Amino acid sequence: MSRIPLNSAIPNSTTPLSALSALALIASLGSACGDDASATNTEGASTDTDSASTDTDANTTGETETDTGIADGPTFWDDVAPIYFERCVSCHKPGGVGPFALDTYGAAQTWGPASAAATAARTMPPWLVRDDGTCGTFHDSQALQDEEIATIQAWVQLGMPEGSPRSDLHPPEEEGLGDGLSLKTPTFVPEIQGGPLSEFDEYRCFLVDPGLDADAFLTAYEVIPGTPEIVHHALAMPVDPYLDVGGGVTNLDVIEALEAESPDRDGWPCFGAAGDGVEINNMPVVWAPGQGVVHYPEGTGNRVYADDLMVIQIHYNLDRPELIGLSDSTEVRIELRDDVELEGLYLALDPFLDTLFDDEPAALAAGQAKVSYTWEEPIGDWAQYFGWPSMTIHGIFPHMHEYGQTLTVEVDPDGEGYECAADVPRWDFNWQHLYFLDKPVTLDGDGGVRVTCGYNTEAAEEPVLPGWGTGNEMCFVGLFVTP
Ligand code: HEC
Repeated sequence: MSRIPLNSAIPNSTTPLSALSALALIASLGSACGDDASATNTEGASTDTDSASTDTDANTTGETETDTGIADGPTFWDDVAPIYFERCVSCHKPGGVGPFALDTYGAAQTWGPASAAATAARTMPPWLVRDDGTCGTFHDSQALQDEEIATIQAWVQLGMPEGSPRSDLHPPEEEGLGDGLSLKTPTFVPEIQGGPLSEFDEYRCFLVDPGLDADAFLTAYEVIPGTPEIVHHALAMPVDPYLDVGGGVTNLDVIEALEAESPDRDGWPCFGAAGDGVEINNMPVVWAPGQGVVHYPEGTGNRVYADDLMVIQIHYNLDRPELIGLSDSTEVRIELRDDVELEGLYLALDPFLDTLFDDEPAALAAGQAKVSYTWEEPIGDWAQYFGWPSMTIHGIFPHMHEYGQTLTVEVDPDGEGYECAADVPRWDFNWQHLYFLDKPVTLDGDGGVRVTCGYNTEAAEEPVLPGWGTGNEMCFVGLFVTP
């Protein structure tokens, strides 16, 4: 086994069995490992992770002064606008991805009660992991502090006083990766595809040649959407064009066939990763609006092979009539280094998905308000296959589809017991994100991870099977790990 693919694709996938391996060993993995590594799964419908208890109840009524520390009661310009400019306006500005602006008093007033509710529910700003210190802390967190949520609540309760207008507030300056390698998607006019996950959306993949003449390491990235209003997320994935994905068919053959299905439009349809049957090496660029420049942890990077091509997936969202017909050309800037101290691997783990090729695949019962699936993988042990003394987890990428509600990742460093590493109390497919841990966790040979996914299958009439399609589910976690 060489590189085990990490896949991809739309319904009724014809993906070969090998694509379903529990681990996608990316980068310079030799042989060995693989089958032994996918060892024991504890699975099945089991313990509910009760996330209800994690909601921060920002109940400020009558307690305004204590909660916010603001003696005279908050005003927009003194207290709320600084929070909005720091945390909201990068999206909520004219032409931003947010559906309305929050950079003027009038707009903020119109959206005041909704904003108080959305921030108290922690659905805005979009940052899916619980971030109150009880389950990991994360680099560049976008989450609001409890006091900030309380300030917005108090301001709305006081009738949204304006205060004295000021003009010194701006969204955070972005440092930019101006010197990076620029990869651009063609100018493209997305069209609504319809269906359960594409009601107002199109997922489109484009092939871009980074033109490398030697292997390199991706250490940082930045995405500059051409038309921010419609670019809801972007992924970039190195693909080996000559990789045989089965029966002598290469990745490039698959891509060319997919492209040929819509010759009058650039790219090809894709959902989840690079498209049906395309096997990717890695997913080092995962971008959603508001993210800015993303740096991999100091000294680490992702190998991109000299021959690799990049597939860029763009999720276009066209949920407002005025967005239809707009074109976009998005730029992905990547910082490449010749060498790094620690070459990272991206482990793509989904034992739920892997059951698809068991005699009886796991399935989620239909019509349930709450059904969960738990798996465990003893990944600490895999370090020996990589020739590593131990394995350190730096980044966590949770992923489910539309039935997904909650996802909890626990890590057991040494066989002594699990600790909460990342918890998503309200999954939202629209906000994909790679979360970097402030404190990376090192696993010894006895260490492992346990993942519990919660789903609501009330809308399903048949049991929900694992799969990459819109109507299927995943209980996927990508881990960025290093020696
Ligand atoms: C990363 C971009 C981004 C940031 C940052 C962001 N928003 Fe949003 N917001 C959106 C988008 C896009 C929508 C439309 C719904 C969706 O796609 O989730 C939205 C929807 C909303 C809504 C209406 C829907 C709802 O949930 O009630 C409110 C209110 C809102 N945002 C307030 C805020 C506030 C307040 C902040 C800052 C504290 C903020 N947003 C930060 C992108 C953002």
